[in-house]
Amino acid sequence: MSVRMAPPLPLIFLLIIHIVSGADWGVKYSPSHICALKDSSVIMSCTYKYPTGHQIMKVFWTKDLVKHGEEFADLSEDPEYSQRLQYLGDKQQNCTVRLSHVTEKDEHKYYFRFITNITTGRWIGIPGERLSVTDLQLESPERVTEGDSVRLTCRSSCKLTDTPTFIWYRNSQRLTERRDRSNELLLQSVRREDAGRYRCAVHEHTLTSPEVYLNVMYSPKSVSVSISGSAVIMEGDSVTLSCSSDSNPPAEINWFKGIEYVKYGRIFNISKISSDNGGEYKCRARNKHGEKYSDPVTLDVQYSPRNVSVSINGSAVIVSGDSVSLMCISDSNPPALSFSWFKENQSSAVGSGQSFSAVQSGRFYCEAHNPHGAQRSDAVTVTVKGRPLILYISIGVGCGAAVVIMILLIWKNRMKIRNDTEESQINQSRLHHDRNNDNCIDFTEPMYENIKMNPSRPHQDRLTACDVQFSDPLYENIKMNPSRIPGGTRADCDVHVTDPVYGNVMVSEYSPH
Ligand SMILES: *[C@@H]1O[C@H](CO)[C@@H](O)[C@H](O)[C@H]1NC(C)=O
Ligand SMILES: *[C@@H]1O[C@H](CO)[C@@H](O)[C@H](O)[C@H]1NC(C)=O
Ligand SMILES: *[C@@H]1O[C@H](CO)[C@@H](O)[C@H](O)[C@H]1NC(C)=O
Ligand SMILES: *[C@@H]1O[C@H](CO)[C@@H](O)[C@H](O)[C@H]1NC(C)=O
Ligand SMILES: *[C@@H]1O[C@H](CO)[C@@H](O)[C@H](O)[C@H]1NC(C)=O
Ligand SMILES: *[C@@H]1O[C@H](CO)[C@@H](O)[C@H](O)[C@H]1NC(C)=O
Repeated sequence: MSVRMAPPLPLIFLLIIHIVSGADWGVKYSPSHICALKDSSVIMSCTYKYPTGHQIMKVFWTKDLVKHGEEFADLSEDPEYSQRLQYLGDKQQNCTVRLSHVTEKDEHKYYFRFITNITTGRWIGIPGERLSVTDLQLESPERVTEGDSVRLTCRSSCKLTDTPTFIWYRNSQRLTERRDRSNELLLQSVRREDAGRYRCAVHEHTLTSPEVYLNVMYSPKSVSVSISGSAVIMEGDSVTLSCSSDSNPPAEINWFKGIEYVKYGRIFNISKISSDNGGEYKCRARNKHGEKYSDPVTLDVQYSPRNVSVSINGSAVIVSGDSVSLMCISDSNPPALSFSWFKENQSSAVGSGQSFSAVQSGRFYCEAHNPHGAQRSDAVTVTVKGRPLILYISIGVGCGAAVVIMILLIWKNRMKIRNDTEESQINQSRLHHDRNNDNCIDFTEPMYENIKMNPSRPHQDRLTACDVQFSDPLYENIKMNPSRIPGGTRADCDVHVTDPVYGNVMVSEYSPH
C-alpha cells in the first residue's frame, strides 16, 4: 500500500496509468524484521524504485506515519537519532541506513520516504522495517550436583538477525575452547571446578549477558584436622582441634574419640586438657551428598611423674647378707626412664635404675624423672636382722609343731579305722617288694611322703637296721631306733621321738618273712 496525494480529477487516466505502473514504485527492506543486540549498530538494508523520468529530490527515514504539516518527520532531524543515524544509500536506488547504539527505545517500525521532481512523485515504503532490540540472558539451573549434566542457554528475546557465534565466560575468563553457533553450553558430568560465574556474549559485540552463578554441590572432600599450639601437649594446656573440609553445601562436623562421639562443630576446644583426654581423634564432615572422615590425629598428653611409689618384692625384713629388691613405680608420660634412689637423711643418691637392691636397714625412697619433671615416692622401711639361729629354730619348731599336731589329730581320727584293717597287709607286701629291691619303705600316705627309709645296710640279709630320713624339717627330730642290731630274724624299726609332741607318731610294725 502506498500513501499518495489524491490525483486531480483530470488526471484520472494518468492515475490509471500510475496504478498500472505502480509496480515501478517501491521500497524493499531486507530483511523486513531486524533483531539487534542492545548497544549494537544495525544496518537496515533497503532499495527503492520509481518510474523513469523522475529525479529524486529528497530521501529520508521516518518512524511514524503521522505528517507534521506537509511532510513526515525526518528522522535525521530528531535529536534522539541525529547523532546515531547514518544514511548509507544514494539518490538512485540504495536506501540503506545505519543506526548505532540501539536501545530498547529504538524498537519501532521505520519507513523510507523519497520525493521526486514530479509533483505526484512521493513514496513511502510501507509496511516498513521493524527493529527489535534484545539483550542476552543466561539461563542455567541454579544448583547442580557433581556428576550431573548441565545445559546453559544464552537467550535473546528475538532471533538475532546475524547468525551469531556465542562466546562463553566463566569468572571473566573466556572459555576459548567453546565457540559455538549454538546458544547452548553443555557441561557433561559437571565437576566442582565448573562452579563459577558464567556469562555469554555474541562474538564481536560488547554486550554480554548478566553473570549467573553455577553452584555445584558435592560431598565433603579433603577432610583434615589441625591442632593449635605446640607439638608437645602438656596436661593443663588448652588445645583447639579444628576440622576443615571442602564441601558444598557446607558440611556439619562431628568429632569422635576412637569410635565414640564427643563433640559437634568445626572447632573442638579442650581447655585444661588432662591425660584422660589423650587418644585418637577424628572428625567427620557430612552433608546431604555424603560424608567423609579425616585421618585420625593423636593427642599425646604428657605429664611429669606422679603417683610414684616403691614396690617391695618379697619381705621388707631380711636377714643380714640377703638383699631385698625395691622397684620404683610411677605414672608418667613419657614413661620415666631415669630413677634415683635415696636413703632417708642421706643427701646423695644410693642408686639409680628402676629397681634397687637394698642390703642395709633404712628408709628408702625413689625419685622418677621424665623430661617434664620428677617426683619422689614415700619411703619404705627395710629392716635387716642378724641370725639368731636358736630363736628361729624355736619359733619355727613351735609354730610347726602346733600345726602338725592339729593336722595329725585330724588325720589320725579319720584314718584309724581304715588303716587297722588294710594297712598292715599293704605295708607288708610293699616291704617284701622293697626288700628285694634294696629299697626302703615308701609311704604313700601324704603325711609321710617325705619320710624315707635309709637303706644304710643294703647287703644285709634282713633288714636289721632302719633309718628314717625326714626331709621335712618338721620331722627333723624324729629318729628311727635300730633297737635290735644286729638282730635276729626280726628287724624292728622303732621310732624314737625326742620331742614329746611326736609321741603319737608310730610306724607300723612289720614282720618280714
Ligand atoms: C524531472 O527531471 C527529469 C530528469 O532530470 C526531467 O527530464 C524532467 O523534465 C523533470 N520534470 C519536471 C516536471 O521538472
Ligand atoms: C547500498 O549501500 C551500502 C553502503 O554503501 C552497500 O553496502 C550496499 O551493498 C548497497 N546495496 C545495494 C543493493 O547496492
Ligand atoms: C577456643 O579456645 C580459644 C583459645 O583458648 C578461644 O580463643 C576460642 O574462642 C575458643 N573457641 C571456642 C569455640 O570455644
Ligand atoms: C594418682 O594420684 C592422683 C593425685 O595426684 C590421685 O587422684 C589418683 O587417684 C592416683 N592414682 C592412682 C592409680 O593411684
Ligand atoms: C621378685 O623376685 C623374684 C625372685 O627373687 C624374681 O624372679 C622376680 O622377677 C622379682 N619380681 C620383680 C617384680 O622384681
Ligand atoms: C631423719 O631426720 C628426721 C629429722 O630431720 C628425723 O625425724 C628422723 O627420725 C630421721 N630418720 C632417720 C631414719 O634417721
